[in-house]
Order: sequence, then structure tokens, then C-alpha cells
Amino acid sequence: MELPFAEAYKIKMVEPLRKSTREEREQWIKEAHYNLFGLKSDMVYIDCITDSGTGAMSDRQWAAMMMGDEAYAGARSFFHLKETITKITGFEWIIPTHQGRAAENVLFSYLVKEGDIVPGNSHFDTTKGHIEGRKAFAVDCTIDEAKDTQLEIPFKGNVDLNKLEKCLAENADKIPFIIVTITNNTAGGQPVSMENLRGVRAIADKYGKRVLFDSARFVENAYFIKTREAGYADKTIKAICREMFNLADGMTMSSKKDGLVNMGGFIATRHEDWYEGAKGFCIRYEGFLTYGGMNGRDMDALAVGLDENTELETIETRIKQVQYLAARLDEFGIPYQRPVGGHALFVDASLILTNVPKEEFPAQTLAIELYKEAGVRGCEIGYILADRDPITRENRFGGLDLLRLCIARRTYTNNHMDVIAVALKNVFDRRNEIKHGYRITWEAPLLRHFTVQLEPVQE
Ligand code: F0G
Repeated sequence: MELPFAEAYKIKMVEPLRKSTREEREQWIKEAHYNLFGLKSDMVYIDCITDSGTGAMSDRQWAAMMMGDEAYAGARSFFHLKETITKITGFEWIIPTHQGRAAENVLFSYLVKEGDIVPGNSHFDTTKGHIEGRKAFAVDCTIDEAKDTQLEIPFKGNVDLNKLEKCLAENADKIPFIIVTITNNTAGGQPVSMENLRGVRAIADKYGKRVLFDSARFVENAYFIKTREAGYADKTIKAICREMFNLADGMTMSSKKDGLVNMGGFIATRHEDWYEGAKGFCIRYEGFLTYGGMNGRDMDALAVGLDENTELETIETRIKQVQYLAARLDEFGIPYQRPVGGHALFVDASLILTNVPKEEFPAQTLAIELYKEAGVRGCEIGYILADRDPITRENRFGGLDLLRLCIARRTYTNNHMDVIAVALKNVFDRRNEIKHGYRITWEAPLLRHFTVQLEPVQE
């Protein structure tokens, strides 16, 4: 008999979890104005709000932290990190930052000007925020298939090359670079194929443009290329990563995801002019060029994390846990963005809470119901997160309305996955009784989902 798959690690340290009662949770979520970001983590049993900075570090990473060099300038830890990034990506010019959006802020401060257009595949909300905040425009060129959650195709995060080419042909002089997000978080943690990355490169070259990878989950993307794209089954994850980055001019990184650390980010590029242009903004916003808002010890932990995560056993364990949860949802017939992506389940609220009008935010409603049911905290990736159109100020109802359940790396067991699945099934079973959602009572002009306040449309 073939041995079953099991985690490529054993557990060395644990953190107790607190369970709560339904009555407690109903009170807490009301006090949080029905915004799950407003809850204290002790009010949460299983936290699926993000996979960002929530994972467990390995013993090798903790050991590396002891080696941290906290020098203000020229820290050994920086060079450890720089050499590791160059080995994995081929990029020689590195600017550390305290997290991914800081990398965006530093680089875009140099590259993005008012009136610019930045085409890409479903820009992440902070990426969009850093573009729109500069009075520039993020043009989404994701393939249309990504909008059909029930369609099974292997690379649903791909860029539509026709849309991209059209955007370039019409606006070439306004485009500072093309951005490709690997994996495509907003479309459901969906991967981008190597073939598609090659296609983007070809179009960029034709118009003399550079390509930036938003690389938060680049290792997950490499794993899907290995397991789904012809010709890559026998290549190592590291070789696939290198081949992907060969097609880019630079990257912004949120190390809190595939860097396997709790905080950190960086910019890496092959172009000295990008480095020269951005470095002053690093010093202004983040810190000196050899630490950029990071502790020396954290740069060491990141170097080890990047090396560890680009090994097959680590990334395979991660993806297989997400796929385990997806298989449980399949048993219960709960619809989610198919096939499941790398870091999360994206449950399709519009197919579940069909009685809740879109103006009352079905995915947010589902997130609240799931929290009340079992203390599982997910996150709306839908109409609230989509913000308002910067010109018309209307709600943007054109995209998907999803409940995202992120799986932290090396943190929960498959027993926890079972709890999540059954809690969701219990809500799913009474979906037709849920007829009303929530209305906004307060919102910020940009990135509103973090701080939005809501009230039930009907008590
Ligand atoms: N790019 C992508 C694709 C992301 O998913 C994120 C963060 C960022 C950039 C920004 O990085 O958080 O380090 O500043 N995503 C988290 C999430 C917050 O929950 O998906 P950051």
C-alpha cells in the first residue's frame, strides 16, 4: 500500500488556542462594527484572515536569528540576505523594506507619476492603492476566465495578452512598467504559467517596457508550474523560480508570505538605474540601504526562509494542506474559486448567499456568519475591498465577491481544516434563511476594508 502524504516537519513548540461561545462572538463582532479586522486575536479560534506573517518559523530560522548583525550600516545579515536573493532570483540590486507595501511605496515613488497607467493582473489592494494614490491608473488585464469561479483551468491567474497589448498600443508613453502578480492573490491565489510570463516579456520587449513581478507567493507559483505545466515536472523549484525571474526586470516582495517570516519585504532588480532611483526613498521612508526597516536578525531569518521554502518538501506540504481543505469543501458541495490556488480558499459568496443583494455585501455577510458559527476568521475579498471608483465614487460591483480563508504556513493541522470545513457547511446548510447583509456606516476613502464600519440591514 502506498504511504499517505504527511508534513515534512514535526512540531517543536505550540501556542494554546482559546475557544469561545456563540454569545461571546455575537457581542464581539457587534462591538467591532462587523469588521473582522476589529477583533482581538484572542476572540478568534482559527485565524484565516491572512497567510501574511502568520506562519511558523523553523528551528534553522530561529538559529539564524542568533547570528543577526544589528549594525546600522553594512550589516553582515544584509549581505547574507542579498546573496540568497541573488542566488534565487538572479537580481543583484537589493533594497530591504519593512514589508511588501513599503517596497511598493519606495519603488513607485520613483517610477509612478500622476496620469500614468500600470497594466497588470488583478493588482493587490496595496499595489492598487500605491498607484491610485499617485493619481495613476491600475489597468486589470487578467484573463476573463478568472471571473468564472467554477471553471477549472490550470493557470487562472494569467495575464490576457490581448488586453495587455491593447493597453500598451494605446498608452505606451504613459506606462512606466507592467506588473505581474505571482500568484495572483486577488483572483484566488491562482498561478501564472511560464508560457504566459514569456508572452508578457515578449510584449514588453516589443514596446520597450520593463516587467515587475509582485512576488509575494512566487514559490507557490513555481510549485504549480512544476505540477501543471508541460516540461517542468522534473525541474527543481529553485530552477523554476530562476526561470520565472529571468523573464522579469525586478520584483517587489512581501517576505511575510513565501519568505516564511513574520515581517519583511524587499525590492530586487537587475537594473542599477531602478536601484539608484529608488534608494533615496528607502532612506527617507524605511531606513539606511542595508536594513530598510528590518532588524539584522530578521534578515538572517528571511535568508534561511527563502532558501527553505524553495525546496520541494516545504512548498508541497503547504499546498497539499490547502488542497486538503478544498477536498473537504467538495464533499459538502460548497463553491469556491476552482481549482483551489496556493494560499487560500476563496469561497464564492455570490453562489451561496443568493438572497442577499450585492449592495448588502454577501461575502462580508458570509464572513460574519462563519465567525459567529465557530470563531473562524476569514476575510472579504469582494465589493468592500474593491473600494469606490476613483472618479465616479460609485461602489465597484464588477468583480468577484469572495470570502477568503487563508491558511497560515506550518501553523494549523488538518484537524483544524476539518473544523473550518464543517463550520462553513453549517452556514451553507442554512444559506437560504439568510436574506439580508450589512450597510456601511463609515468608510475611509482608500483601502476601506481594513477600517470600514457596518451595521446589519435588519436585526
Ligand atoms: N502583494 C501581494 C500579492 C500581497 O498579497 C500583499 C499582501 C502585498 C503585495 C503587500 O505586502 O502585506 O507585506 O505589505 N497581502 C496580504 C494578504 C496582506 O492578506 O493577502 P505586505
